Amino acid sequence: MAIWALDLSPGSLFVIVLVATTGFLLSQAIYNVFFHPLRSFPGPLSMRASRVPYCIHIISGRLPFTILELHKRYGSVVRIAPNELVFADARAWKDIMGHRAAGEPEMQKAQVVYRFTAGAPVSILNAPREEHGRMRKQLAHGFSEKSMRSQEPIIMRYVNLLMDRLRENSQGGKSPQDMVKWYNYTTFDIIGDLTFGESFGCLETSHYHPWVTMIFAGIKLGTYSQVARHFPMFQSLIQLGLPSSLQQKRLEHFRLTDEKLLKRIDMGMHRQDLIEGFLRAKDDITVPMSLAQLRMMSSLLIAAGSETTATLLSGVTYLLGKNPEALAKITQEVRTAFSSEEEINFQSVNALQYMLACLDEALRVYPPVPIGMPREVPKGGWTIAGQFVAEDTIVSLYHYALYHNERYFKDAEGFHPERWLGDPRFASDDRELFQPFQLGPRNCIGRNLAYVEMRTILARILWNYNISLADDSQNWMSQQKIYGLWEKDALNVYLTPRGAS
Ligand code: HEM
Repeated sequence: MAIWALDLSPGSLFVIVLVATTGFLLSQAIYNVFFHPLRSFPGPLSMRASRVPYCIHIISGRLPFTILELHKRYGSVVRIAPNELVFADARAWKDIMGHRAAGEPEMQKAQVVYRFTAGAPVSILNAPREEHGRMRKQLAHGFSEKSMRSQEPIIMRYVNLLMDRLRENSQGGKSPQDMVKWYNYTTFDIIGDLTFGESFGCLETSHYHPWVTMIFAGIKLGTYSQVARHFPMFQSLIQLGLPSSLQQKRLEHFRLTDEKLLKRIDMGMHRQDLIEGFLRAKDDITVPMSLAQLRMMSSLLIAAGSETTATLLSGVTYLLGKNPEALAKITQEVRTAFSSEEEINFQSVNALQYMLACLDEALRVYPPVPIGMPREVPKGGWTIAGQFVAEDTIVSLYHYALYHNERYFKDAEGFHPERWLGDPRFASDDRELFQPFQLGPRNCIGRNLAYVEMRTILARILWNYNISLADDSQNWMSQQKIYGLWEKDALNVYLTPRGAS
């Protein structure tokens, strides 16, 4: 008798569906553990069998911490999902991210993570190889030495404004200041000006602009969407469950971005900012860039160039607050290197070697990009860190998990700027593993900009203030979760003017 002719009660139908689904999942799990091309790589059984544990760790905001524990237990390569491996080996940086010879396939960015919206135009972050190369060339113009020299007065205007605001609000050191907020205001205003030709007015108003609030909402939304993309069958169902307020914010973000872009386009070509290279190309009929593409690009520039730098500044401020010896050394370095505050500029901060070591150590302890940036192994497979990996495998290195592993960095949980200054105690450190800006054709194009901003802002603060953490921020770092980026509470810091008792 045909199945549709059976007179089934809803209860029996439910049982049949349940048994069929369980059978399907079980057979998949058996395949993943015993027959999958990655079957010989180590990892916890639940993660080798199913993608679900990985997603639970992402949603709980603890995936990078879990991966650290997994590396400690299973070694330098771990299977964290049926089709995904994480590496902790300096050779893997080059094998996964490095430049390829002509004709050799590049590892594409894993689309399940980087393809934010199906059908949407790509940005430099998720463009395929050829398009990426073209965009990178156009963008490089805005990051050239010449452009950075012409951007210095713009950036300095916001650093000055930050110092004014801190002076007004800190009340001679009596009122602790939330430095996460102040650093975000500053870096968003700077990158806003360098992208749209106008700041977000965060420092002017002492408030986050709605555009900035949307970026933060978008980062968390991105994490949830990533989880949904791992389960195509349930994707629409899961997306229906996403808060509609987040979706609304995304559309509002697009509208505001277009408005700002049109204003910037009206300003013309005389500004050597980050967007100029794309506007020039707009006139070149061989490389047209639509408003939708410009929107993707500008949103990415702002997200990539602001929160990361502000995170590191917050991190280094906290770590210095917890390490009085390092704080005394860096403060002395700043105050002896200059004879007046006006001498602090993009060129002069290069001489601050101890500060550079503090920033690098903060990048290690508290990497602004703490997660892995996954790639897909190309057709035919690839050898990574000496091991053959099958095609289509997702591969990455998790910054947090690399830099906190005692096997690669001595006293990995401590803050030791000296490790970057040739101190023999840290001679065994695996320094090639330390790649907070990554390497290869898709490394961070904003690295130099980030360093000058961080050095200048930190130097100005330490020149003016003795800093100390408020009681409620003494454990600021240890309580944070990670949703793509660090989810940070207020970092309250007393800023006592130097010379005041
Ligand atoms: C401490 C600060 C920063 C850190 C740690 C950092 C880190 C990174 C990392 C790890 C990547 C690689 C992403 C991937 O593989 O998908 C990246 C890419 C990128 N970063 Fe940064 N970044 C910082 C600051 C900046 C700044 C100030 C800008 C300026 C706009 C910027 C712009 C970009 C862009 C445009 C890309 C994409 C490059 C490409 O795909 O060719 N970053 N960054």
